[in-house]
Amino acid sequence: MKNAHELIEKNVGLLTVLIIIAISLGGMAQITPLMFQQQTMAPVDGLKPYTALQMEGRDIFIREGCVGCHSQMIRPFRAETERYGHYSVAGESVWEHPFLWGSKRTGPDLARVGGRYSDDWHRVHLINPRDVVPASNMPGFPWLMENTLDGELTAKKLSVFRDFGVPYTDEDIAGAKDAVKGKTEMVALIAYLQSLGTALK
Ligand code: HEC
Repeated sequence: MKNAHELIEKNVGLLTVLIIIAISLGGMAQITPLMFQQQTMAPVDGLKPYTALQMEGRDIFIREGCVGCHSQMIRPFRAETERYGHYSVAGESVWEHPFLWGSKRTGPDLARVGGRYSDDWHRVHLINPRDVVPASNMPGFPWLMENTLDGELTAKKLSVFRDFGVPYTDEDIAGAKDAVKGKTEMVALIAYLQSLGTALK
């Protein structure tokens, strides 16, 4: 036994291979069960796929880099749940592609911002945050009021998400373009924000 130990410690190649095997087994033991557990695979009750307008809003959220300052992941700590509401659960994110959990909070977490403010508040805040939060250092996004959606790609986006397993109907996809065409990016982004975290409120 003593010699076997020495053999491994003095042989870098063998040591490396054995370390890789040990770490892989540990990693697989943690990750594999999550791929099959209902709790992490099944959508929470009441979860709705994004409407065509919310889907466009989500893409604007990605484009404008909001995720660089805002997480969408409430951790199960008292300090977080007191401030933001129920901690995030996996079943809320099963239809997110890609998920926007983020990793940085220059601003507050947005996982449950839906319904917290009025649409008007969001509009004023997104044009110039300092009009409603004087000390804010969030940038303004006034162009969202001017840019309008043409909806050319909206149906395609929904059908790609359907391929990922999101339950869109043929009608959802057929009506996607008309549902967004001519609306401003501001309206779409606010529709998206107002939907966040509402399934589990
Ligand atoms: C440079 C970092 C930064 C970026 C980029 C940013 N924000 Fe913010 N955001 C903040 C900060 C800081 C606050 C807190 C002060 C305030 O309310 O304005 C905030 C607050 C908010 C709030 C209010 C949250 C609450 O619970 O009070 C919303 C909603 C929001 N941001 C949405 C957005 C959206 C949508 C975008 C992208 C279009 C965005 N933010 C981009 C920093 C940022």
